[in-house]
This record gives sequence, C-alpha cells and structure tokens, in this order.
Amino acid sequence: MEKLLQQIQSLIKEIELFETNDTQAVEAFRIKYLGTKGVVKELMGEMKNVAMERKKEFGQILNEFKQIAESKYETIKLKTIEAVTISDSRIDLSLPGDPMPLGSRHPISLMKNKIITIFQRLGFAVAEGPEIEDDWHNFTALNLPAHHPARDMQDTFYVQQNPDWLLRTHTSNTQIREMQKNKPPIRVICPGRVYRNETISARSHCFFHQVEGLYIDEHVSFADLKQTLYFFAKEMYGQDVKIRFRPSYFPFTEPSAEMDISCTLCNSAGCSVCKKTGWLEILGCGMVHPHVLENCGIDSNKYTGFAFGMGVERPALLKYGINDIRLFSENDVRFLKQFTSAI
Ligand code: DAH
Repeated sequence: MEKLLQQIQSLIKEIELFETNDTQAVEAFRIKYLGTKGVVKELMGEMKNVAMERKKEFGQILNEFKQIAESKYETIKLKTIEAVTISDSRIDLSLPGDPMPLGSRHPISLMKNKIITIFQRLGFAVAEGPEIEDDWHNFTALNLPAHHPARDMQDTFYVQQNPDWLLRTHTSNTQIREMQKNKPPIRVICPGRVYRNETISARSHCFFHQVEGLYIDEHVSFADLKQTLYFFAKEMYGQDVKIRFRPSYFPFTEPSAEMDISCTLCNSAGCSVCKKTGWLEILGCGMVHPHVLENCGIDSNKYTGFAFGMGVERPALLKYGINDIRLFSENDVRFLKQFTSAI
C-alpha cells in the first residue's frame, strides 16, 4: 500500500509538470492516464491487493488522482484548441485593413461651398434661415406687401394648415432675419434651399438652391457692391472673365441690377447656352431699399447696404457640363459619384 501511495504521489507531480499545445501529445496523455488500459484503470486494479481496512482510504486517494488527471486533460485540450485556431485560421493580422469606400460630395454642395469660401475670405459670415417661412419674412418685409404685382415673379407653395406659412421662394428671408437679430455692421451670406411652383423640366425645378448676400454698415455704396461682386466673379470664373451690370428691378433693392459674366462655354462667341448673346446672367443685386431697413428696425438715414442673390444650380450645370437640372435631385449614385474632387 505505501508503495502504491508513493507511486501515485510521483504520478501527480508528473501530471502537474506536464505541458503541451500539441494535439497528438494531448491525446497520448489521455490514453496514458485515462484510457481503458491507462494508469487510473491499472491502479484501480490494485484495489484487490489492498488490505481491507485501507480500501476506503485508497479509494479516496485514487479518486482524487483521477480528478487531477481529468482536469489537467481538459486544460491542455483547451489550450491546444486555442493555439490551433490562431495558427490555422488564415488571418494575417499584419495585413492593412480593408479600405472604406469614400462617398463623394454632392455637386450642389461643392458649388455652394466654393461660393461660401470666396465670400468668407472677404469677411462674410454664414447665416441660415428657415425653409418654412411666414409671409412677412418672405414678402412683406422685403417691400413686397400683399397684392404687390411683383409677388407674381415667384409662384409660391403655401402650407395648408396655415395660409400665413409658405415654403420660402428665395433666401432673402434670411437677410430679414439677420437684420432683425443683429445690429450693423452686418456682413453675411445665406445659402439654402428655396421652392417655387414651377413645372419640372430639364431647365427648371420646384426646388433649387440660392446664396444670398447682405452687407449693411455706414457709407456702404454701390461701388462696394460692384467691387465685391467683381472679386467674386473673378475668383469663381477665372481672372479673364468679363463682367457687366444691367439695370433691373427688385422690390427690396433700389437701385437694382443684374450681373452677367461672359459666357464661359463659347468664350463669348455665342452658343445655345448663352442664347447667342455671349453673356450669362448669374445674379441679382442692388442697394437695400430703405423700407426694408426700416422694416427691420435699422435707421435708413444712418445705414446703407447692398444685397445680392444667386442660384447654385446654374453655375454647377456650367461648371460640370450637365444638361439636366433634374439629375441633381434624382440621387442616382452613378451620377453622384463622379464628383469626387473639390472644385
Ligand atoms: N431674391 C431674388 C430672387 O430670388 C434674388 C435677389 C435679387 C436677391 C436681388 C437679392 C437682391 O438680395 O438684392 O430672384
């Protein structure tokens, strides 16, 4: 019996010291200790040789030994499985990750951002206004009272629940909000989406984008307006572009003008886009009407200012040679993903 106990002690040491992460060695361990002809079974066979009064003690020791062998077997088995999974799976952890395909900016955003950047360099801040607007901010405050015939220039969508609400027809609503909120000097550009009840075609849409500009301070003159817009046109369309102002009419400015640039497509030779005139109209502008200043609580004897408004779709059509305005809102990725580079 004592010999058997010693043998078990040394077997326990042997088991405790055993280490491997090789599957075959693990199986060999199992066979050696726990198999049908293994050490545990063999020792059980010795039971018959143990004296009657010590059988119980021997049984307990043998049982403990068996548990030690079993738990060692489980441990080395798990370890090997982990090792095998890592080395077998064909993951090369040193490879660079899969690149995430980058989206592209919408051509309207690219054009809008380009316009914004140019004016920011002149010290204009960006302001935004609501697309659902009340009649006063969109029309009345801009010197377009109810029944004014100039309201016909912009065919309007009204909101059913409240006849006083409408979808803004221009970003000029934001100049009103800015003048109400801030004291002069005010120097802002207001980009945004606008809505008009127009039949959708290749050339017009019921919604489109504008950038409005406003500068109010003491002694602001038409010369300031011209210089600002000259700078803009040259930055936007190139230093060689020719510029002209034509007298025009807007209820919110006096005097009013429209600015044309020489046709960038035919170099002023005359083409279908410029309707053979050699000129392209790009924006409306003028000196802010004193009524508009007063409507917003600004003293028109002390302050003057200029304003302008331009569409974003048209310069984008010209820039990219696109012939259908509807493409901008159809969200066809084949169209959209062509505009990856900043302008
Ligand atoms: N709001 C005008 C439009 O949508 C554009 C415009 C013209 C804005 C002259 C202005 C301006 O601020 O001074 O047609």
